[in-house]
Amino acid sequence: MPGKHLTQPRDVCACVWCLAVFGFAGAIRVWASDADSKSQSPKFLGSGSCSSSSCHAGAETNRNQYLVWSTRDFHHLRPYATLETARSERIAEVLRIDNPVQNQRCTVCHAPFHTVPAGQLRQEARISEGVSCESCHGPAGNWLRPHTRPDWSHEDRVHAGMRDLRNLYVRANACVACHQNVDSDVQQAGHPELIFELDGQAVSQPRHWRRSMDKPGPQIWLVGQAVALREMSWQLAREKSPNLKLEARAAGLFWLVQAAGNAEGKWPQIEPNAFAPSADQLEKVHRWSDQFAKQMSEIRWSEELTRKCLASLADTGEAFGDTRICTQLHARRAERLVLALDRLVMGLGNAAADPALSRALDRLFDAAQALPDFDPNQFADNLKEFHTGVSRILDSR
Ligand code: HEC
Ligand code: HEC
Ligand code: HEC
Repeated sequence: MPGKHLTQPRDVCACVWCLAVFGFAGAIRVWASDADSKSQSPKFLGSGSCSSSSCHAGAETNRNQYLVWSTRDFHHLRPYATLETARSERIAEVLRIDNPVQNQRCTVCHAPFHTVPAGQLRQEARISEGVSCESCHGPAGNWLRPHTRPDWSHEDRVHAGMRDLRNLYVRANACVACHQNVDSDVQQAGHPELIFELDGQAVSQPRHWRRSMDKPGPQIWLVGQAVALREMSWQLAREKSPNLKLEARAAGLFWLVQAAGNAEGKWPQIEPNAFAPSADQLEKVHRWSDQFAKQMSEIRWSEELTRKCLASLADTGEAFGDTRICTQLHARRAERLVLALDRLVMGLGNAAADPALSRALDRLFDAAQALPDFDPNQFADNLKEFHTGVSRILDSR
């Protein structure tokens, strides 16, 4: 079942993000655009190189990746086409961009081949492919031929430059690069606010890999949230003037991740009040969240951990009664919390199948979605009701 999504709040939020993200934490390199390394950088070959029927466009389940992507995955069907819509035209007008389809400020995420230097892009590769195989799996120039050798292991392919998407931390970094931060002026010009939640979004992407390869959903969720927090704290540290909306969004996410971290005493902890929009504190949050994400991607997740996270996050109702906290921050906490509860419930078979809990969760989503008129007390009541349902299920096993 696909993840629930919050409708994007229509109001704007300012952010700073862009190519600098690539140097960040040394991990995020969705596509090569580093001028210094141009000469050695591997080539992007385009999806045509993967599409022979004996390769990834075959009929069998394990050979049909090209067909799934080209016929069902919005990464091929939508991002490029979106840049040709009236909405993109309006955003472009505000930004004084002539043509979004030909502008790197948009194509960096919507049509990444456009940002690859000409010498690094095979002529047959098309910008209109949108987010193509190599946008996620890495440029194939150095591994296209040998990666099918029967004596090559996954590690050999990764060594040759294929991105190790089986590693959750690496996967989260690949997706978050396009799914959390947009530049402040792009946001203000009317771009939808992005909210990264790896588990729900991974479930929504039409699967072209074996289900057996996947780690448990709640683990994917937690790694994704920690990585999103790292990106947001990094972005906030680079804002030139106070940006209250971005601060509230980042603070809301910080609250969630540190509360989830409390579920297990052995995990790296951070003080609940560590978040503040000063350079020192943001640097601290940034380092902690990166380390936390890495560690969470490596642990052996158990159902017991899902229960602990669910129990601890469902028991946060009181926090929403704290009148010292502004409504906007409460709303941003609630926004991330409901997505978290959804993923944790989905990760527990008996909870996901419980109709009363499911109704309580729907009410929480409704309360969280009322963003401009968010009512913390109403949300706290709904959360208490949800908590009672969770306790009943966790006690009854
Ligand atoms: C190169 C940038 C890029 C990368 C990398 C990327 N995406 Fe996307 N993705 C996009 C863009 C752009 C859209 C929006 C398409 C549109 O509506 O125009 C999108 C849309 C989506 C959507 C549908 C909209 C939504 O938020 O529900 C999902 C789900 C999604 N991506 C999941 C993922 C996952 C999971 C990964 C990592 C495995 C990933 N994406 C990697 C650029 C990217
Ligand atoms: C950081 C990556 C990134 C950048 C840069 C970016 N976008 Fe997007 N854009 C996305 C993602 C991801 C979505 C999907 C949001 C969702 O559905 O949750 C999206 C959605 C959109 C949508 C809404 C699509 C729909 O039908 O709902 C429009 C319009 C759009 N982008 C236009 C632009 C334009 C124009 C630019 C350049 C000025 C731009 N984008 C730059 C990542 C990006
Ligand atoms: C939006 C990101 C994204 C795009 C675009 C994408 N993939 Fe993937 N792909 C993934 C993820 C995530 C996995 C799962 C992790 C893994 O098994 O490596 C995966 C897995 C795979 C696998 C391993 C399947 C298995 O069960 O072992 C193959 C092969 C593959 N992709 C080929 C392709 C091809 C070919 C294309 C283009 C036609 C493509 N991918 C486009 C993200 C993407």
